[in-house]
Amino acid sequence: MSKHKKVNSREVGLEIGLVFGKYFLGMEHLHYGYWTDGLEVNIHNLSQAQKNYSRFLLSHIPKGTKTILDVGCGNGRVALELVNKGYKVDCVSPSSILTRHAHNILQGKSHIFECYYEDLETENRYDLILFSESFQYINLEKALQKSLRLLNKDGYLLICDFFKTDAEGKSMLGGGHKLVKFYDLISQYAFHPIKDIDITKETLPNLKVVSDFFEEVGNPIWDLVLYFLNSNYPLFSKFLQWKYKKKIEKIERKYFSGGRNAENFSIFKSYRLLLYKKTVPDII
Ligand SMILES: C[S@@+](CC[C@H](N)C(=O)[O-])C[C@H]1O[C@@H](n2cnc3c(N)ncnc32)[C@H](O)[C@@H]1O
Repeated sequence: MSKHKKVNSREVGLEIGLVFGKYFLGMEHLHYGYWTDGLEVNIHNLSQAQKNYSRFLLSHIPKGTKTILDVGCGNGRVALELVNKGYKVDCVSPSSILTRHAHNILQGKSHIFECYYEDLETENRYDLILFSESFQYINLEKALQKSLRLLNKDGYLLICDFFKTDAEGKSMLGGGHKLVKFYDLISQYAFHPIKDIDITKETLPNLKVVSDFFEEVGNPIWDLVLYFLNSNYPLFSKFLQWKYKKKIEKIERKYFSGGRNAENFSIFKSYRLLLYKKTVPDII
């Protein structure tokens, strides 16, 4: 009998966000929004902000690029925009849940490697490798080594993602490689920096939107569920709260303590668009 495979909670979280966002807000993307001046910060504008992000990202693809590898393609929406612009695109997607969406959206217009980037093996080579909010999930050294190998001569690495700053104190916000470590490491590889744009200011409103959502919707629903369980199933509820004490505390700390806010994001994270050019001939 095949061993039961556990589903990754992060992928399930992305799927829930996708289903919820699409149904209630018309959201098509899985990445942050890029909030331009004049776009009022509220949840109803999130879909527009995400479209702005894609437009901003795609505007930094260097001229002459023909082939792209979209690493961590999510639901495939960015890849589809790239295909529609005439690029030849392959994708990497380790999540079976998101890969299903990507296949539906891309309809065979793009080949999807269903694996972690770290495990990808292919003879294909690309003019540009894209990490749209997926870089933070991938081992730094392996990401750089693999990208050097998979890029054509003079190929580009385009990363749009958040990193950890060196700010002191404990952040309630997880995720991201340390920015200083990234700069240090990439300087040891055959990549030449072309662009480094700080878009923390344009992306931090997402945190306000999400923290408002948890305060106004998530928190009351959470309280209601606990109230229902305590009133109707007191023994079962006590058992659950004893058995999952640590998990429940973590959820309350993470989502309902108010620490995941825009101010903390601006202190502990730095969201950047980074473009690098490969400076050595093909590596075999
Ligand atoms: C926040 S989503 C971003 C999706 C998409 N790039 C976008 O901009 O909408 C993060 C993506 O990274 C992918 N991912 C996580 N770990 C990965 C890994 N080790 N290799 C490749 N992709 C990974 C996830 O499956 C998901 O598709």
